[in-house]
Amino acid sequence: MSGPRHLVSIDDLSLAEITQLFEHARHFSENLRDSAEICRGLIAASVFYEPSTRTRLSFESAMLRLGGGVVTAADMNASSASKGESLADTVRVVSGAYADILVLRHPSEGAARLAARYSNVPVINAGDGSHEHPTQTLCDLYTLWIEKGRLEGLDVVLSGDLRYSRTIHSFVYALARFGANLVCVPHQGLELPDYVVKRLREEYGAEPQAADASRLGDLASSSDAMYITPTKPHQLSLYTEAQRGLRLVDHVDAVYMTRPQTERFGESDSASNYIHLDTDIMSGEALREAVVMHPLPRRDEISPEFDADPRSIYFKQAARGVPIRMAILGMLLGRLDFEHSPRPHLEATYPVKLGANPCPNMGCVSHTEIRQAPAAYRIVSRFPVRAVCAYCSRELNLTLVGSVGTPEAFRPDASKARRIEPSELVFFRDSAEAISAGFTVGSGT
Ligand code: NCD
Repeated sequence: MSGPRHLVSIDDLSLAEITQLFEHARHFSENLRDSAEICRGLIAASVFYEPSTRTRLSFESAMLRLGGGVVTAADMNASSASKGESLADTVRVVSGAYADILVLRHPSEGAARLAARYSNVPVINAGDGSHEHPTQTLCDLYTLWIEKGRLEGLDVVLSGDLRYSRTIHSFVYALARFGANLVCVPHQGLELPDYVVKRLREEYGAEPQAADASRLGDLASSSDAMYITPTKPHQLSLYTEAQRGLRLVDHVDAVYMTRPQTERFGESDSASNYIHLDTDIMSGEALREAVVMHPLPRRDEISPEFDADPRSIYFKQAARGVPIRMAILGMLLGRLDFEHSPRPHLEATYPVKLGANPCPNMGCVSHTEIRQAPAAYRIVSRFPVRAVCAYCSRELNLTLVGSVGTPEAFRPDASKARRIEPSELVFFRDSAEAISAGFTVGSGT
């Protein structure tokens, strides 16, 4: 009964599976031109609604190196999408006789989750709006694993546009799960979104703390740095370097730089005085052993003169996109051996039964493909009741909750809310909405 295995979020993989992907990728990197039997006879389709160089070409190269074939729709403006075809219909067509696996890039958040619902073959998320980019994250983790030999306990600076960079979002979740520490050094106004920080806290047990980043010199001079550690707070007290309540950052293993994602900027966003990393900035003692990474493309945020520095590894990182994507394709197509490990559990999804779409994210596919992506939710906590959008995983703002067929609505932290079955849940943004749906607003907690 289980359908094909998809890779939509980095959370769709267990840590054991990710580590096995690294092992396979390392093997492929040593046998790049000698693996052409693995996917012989299979076809990958690239369906790209946004520009791409590395992601699309490395996937296609990976499939060709595995002996498979590729079909490409690299410019969906030249496809039937320009005639008004929905994403769901495109996916239904391509995931049949046309291809055995689908690699999708789309500007709407949650688009890959929607595609997975309609696809007969595995769907790989190659970037959905500013939501996630799990295969770039696998490439980034693999690069760190090769360069540093481990992920646990690494101190990784994330710099630039932390707000709209999908590569950052998938990366921070994975780094936290592997036990790495995050040092956020954002461009002002482009900080890590609150919903990402909240998720790091609530789902991964990570603790954010203000950071003293003075030892990072100009790298952090115009930024309010934040230190996020998955280490339990009682262990934090073992650190002697905590100063004035700030966590001192005096040693960095990697700097991950990002470009301003101007194509997703709102009217109030600006990239003026954006960070510019160069040899001078990287001369501080705290950065002596830090490798510099970037998902690319870069604009001005890393000076070309720094390319000659042995710590600049962004081109090696891009090259590693091929062997890691060979491993991803081989895994999802069932052509590689993976030791059995429990898959991460994905909670059931339920359609929203009453009222307007409660997803607060207007960039979500549930707002852009309204007919094909009817509002739906997953429960992430039964008490207090917390739910997220089934597509983009953004938390729903629940003011009142009720149960279908009952007359009363409660606050999500009321004790009666605990008894509501997830599949029976209805949400209200305020009491007026509850009352107009025929509910009375319960007082009890
Ligand atoms: C990234 C992306 O598309 O999110 N590029 C990539 O896949 N390597 C980063 C970016 O565009 O800045």
